[in-house]
Amino acid sequence: MTTWFITGGTPGGFGIAYAEAALERGDTVAVTARRPQLLADWARPYGDRVLVLPLDVTVAAQVHDAVRAAEERFGGIDVLVNNAGRGWYGSVEGMPEADVRRSLELNFFAVAEVLRAVLPGMRARGSGWVVTMSSLAGLRGVPGFGAYSAAKFALEGLTEALREEVAPFGIRVLTVEPGAFRTRAYAGFADEKVTETTDAYVPFVESVRTAMIAQDGRQPGDPRRGVQAVLQAMAQDPPPHRLVLGAAAYEAATAQLEGVLAELRDHEAASRGADFPPGA
Ligand SMILES: NC(=O)c1ccc[n+]([C@@H]2O[C@H](COP(=O)([O-])OP(=O)(O)OC[C@H]3O[C@@H](n4cnc5c(N)ncnc54)[C@H](OP(=O)(O)O)[C@@H]3O)[C@@H](O)[C@H]2O)c1
Repeated sequence: MTTWFITGGTPGGFGIAYAEAALERGDTVAVTARRPQLLADWARPYGDRVLVLPLDVTVAAQVHDAVRAAEERFGGIDVLVNNAGRGWYGSVEGMPEADVRRSLELNFFAVAEVLRAVLPGMRARGSGWVVTMSSLAGLRGVPGFGAYSAAKFALEGLTEALREEVAPFGIRVLTVEPGAFRTRAYAGFADEKVTETTDAYVPFVESVRTAMIAQDGRQPGDPRRGVQAVLQAMAQDPPPHRLVLGAAAYEAATAQLEGVLAELRDHEAASRGADFPPGA
């Protein structure tokens, strides 16, 4: 029996798409949510194969309580899905400090805390999977979403290091970079006013907000298909280290990484010239 522990369960989001895919395979699932009451009707038909737990991932004590509850109920966690996350818009210069910090708290520090809570059990059993929802914004900085990009880039670095650290314990690590997917992710933007503190960026930040609101419900990515792609990636031997989701994201990620590589190569002589001369 495979048990999943999924953060950020909200109807219509990636978290529930993961949960449904796992349940369709006959697995058991602990779904955590800030608003677990929203999942009561959804969970009922699955009976005791689903455990819905209250969890604000930015509260460390809640993280450890939820992980303990899932382990006690199902005997251990086989697949962790770090899914909870969201972006706030604002310029790098003028985004309020509190918004920068809450973006990093949610999208980075909370993931690190969930890892600290889940990994001991996986190490003890000598197996496990860590699937982390990064973003295309974790591979290419997105103007107007600098703090979100920073947090997702941080996740890329964290999970890349983690992959090698936990491989000896039989734990595998996959990092997922979706483009624009039709979840609830953009639904709140219409209710959130621009809080930009630097006037010079206000028109730009307003345009970012307007574009996000216009895209809501029209994003090309299908979360169910995205999750199926993740499951297929996990089943490969060897599985990939990361998986970009969506055609536009694939185009953007490959262009970004090819551009980075070409630029590094253009400046090869300058890079190599920074060492002491041979023998020095
Ligand atoms: N959809 C996209 O286009 C897209 C693109 C790239 C990456 N992603 C990533 O995919 C993941 C899932 O997002 P989604 O698209 O499925 O959006 P979503 O439907 O809005 O789901 C995000 C989930 O995160 C939860 N969350 C937010 N703050 C939380 C907190 N402090 N504690 C616990 N849970 C919290 C939300 O709970 P509430 O409902 O209570 O707020 C919600 O369940 C995120 O990491 C996101 O960055 C999404």
